[in-house]
Amino acid sequence: MADTQKSAKLTIDGQDFDLPVHSPTVGPDVVDIRKLYGQAGVFTYDPGFTSTAACESAITFIDGDEGVLLHRGYPIGQLAGQSHYLEVCYLLLYGNLPSAAELQDFEGRVTQHTMIHEQMHNFFRGFRRDAHPMATMVGVVGAMSAFYHDSTDINDAWQREVASIRLIAKMPTIAAMAYKYSIGQPFVYPRNDLDYASNFLRMCFSVPAEDYHADPILARAMDRIFTLHADHEQNASTSTVRLASSSGANPFACIAAGIACLWGPAHGGANQACLEMLNEIGTVDRIPEFIARAKDKNDPFRLMGFGHRVYKNFDPRATVMKESADEVLDLLGVENNPILQVAKELEKQALADPYFADKKLFPNVDFYSGIILEAMGFPTSMFTPIFALSRTVGWISQWKEQLSDPALKIGRPRQLYTGETQRDYIPVEKR
Ligand code: SDX
Repeated sequence: MADTQKSAKLTIDGQDFDLPVHSPTVGPDVVDIRKLYGQAGVFTYDPGFTSTAACESAITFIDGDEGVLLHRGYPIGQLAGQSHYLEVCYLLLYGNLPSAAELQDFEGRVTQHTMIHEQMHNFFRGFRRDAHPMATMVGVVGAMSAFYHDSTDINDAWQREVASIRLIAKMPTIAAMAYKYSIGQPFVYPRNDLDYASNFLRMCFSVPAEDYHADPILARAMDRIFTLHADHEQNASTSTVRLASSSGANPFACIAAGIACLWGPAHGGANQACLEMLNEIGTVDRIPEFIARAKDKNDPFRLMGFGHRVYKNFDPRATVMKESADEVLDLLGVENNPILQVAKELEKQALADPYFADKKLFPNVDFYSGIILEAMGFPTSMFTPIFALSRTVGWISQWKEQLSDPALKIGRPRQLYTGETQRDYIPVEKR
């Protein structure tokens, strides 16, 4: 961070406190309050962290007003259009685009780690068949720390690197196994002669009776979905991973915590919730009814796939995702998919409604991703596992960055206490 000569003055009970101000390479300045409690005896209060920078990072930059998303400085639209997921993984992990040789080496290392320990197959069988695949993923990824002891020491740079590669490589295998287990089909092993996205699609859709060869357009769309979900600054699940890591927890435990947080419908679970909402709306003529419900303060219903904590203009990922939705549905001959028609008309009507325009509620990344995934043949229960698969590289990149921060301390927020003051215990016979 750039130390500025600027400072912020805070006056409390007539006493002035000067707080240092740091400037980023791009984005808002930050007021450094690390010494505030020691100097002034007060906490700051920001329950949703809407005005709080929890860390310094050089990985992803978002400008919510301008709809900008940069990964190590590269705009998401360029990466989604010209790069591919494993190259974006390299960029997020190491900070720059790889040379051809570096990329080939990285992809080779990932390819060599795509299988999971054979004994982990038994772990899946402990779940009920109807377990949500996210429950399975949380359990299996956490259990990786019981199988890969040689990459759990966070103080060993080489073990951190091995754990990073293992997680990126194995998440598609684990997600596909969670899906296969949920539909009662046998697990499909990864193949080293397939690219990352084609391998995942084959592990999901191949059966012993008939192999599956991913259409290049579908594989490209899948890879683009991975890229569009790869990282997103300090969102809820990434912040969970950072907080878990600050205690020294091993990488598999930290990523399992991130998966658990992502599951929520306000976060990564929104793509499943959005598709379920579109299916509930069913036809274009029912859209006004649901828009009215979303606007009704007495109705907890919200338009899933709309709104964002940071983007208050448009989510640049949604723009790219919408293009992919058209390509995939056109390829599959379902461009007249009734759900896509409902989605497009819902977007049109919502954005024409002052409630959504005034509150700057625009379609986010989850609005169109579910439509593509459903068209590919995935059940809605697999939408968030695919988000988790994609976001693993973001979580791991942020985890590595935090561990290399010399200022790292265990995360320990304080609180505004409004409970009882001290009082004495009264034995039950006297109450
Ligand atoms: C992701 O953080 C990230 O980066 C997340 C993510 C990532 O890549 O990691 O981008 C992925 O999680 C995308 C968001 C997916 N979630 C959804 O689509 C669920 C529906 N969206 C809402 O739950 C909501 O918009 C949030 C949670 C996304 C954002 O919450 P905020 O910023 O706290 O929004 P808010 O509650 O402050 O909303 C402001 C107003 C409120 O009304 P008022 O109290 O001002 O009267 O807008 C309303 C809200 O009630 N509002 C909505 C709405 N979202 C907000 N009203 C109807 N439908 C909605 N979807």
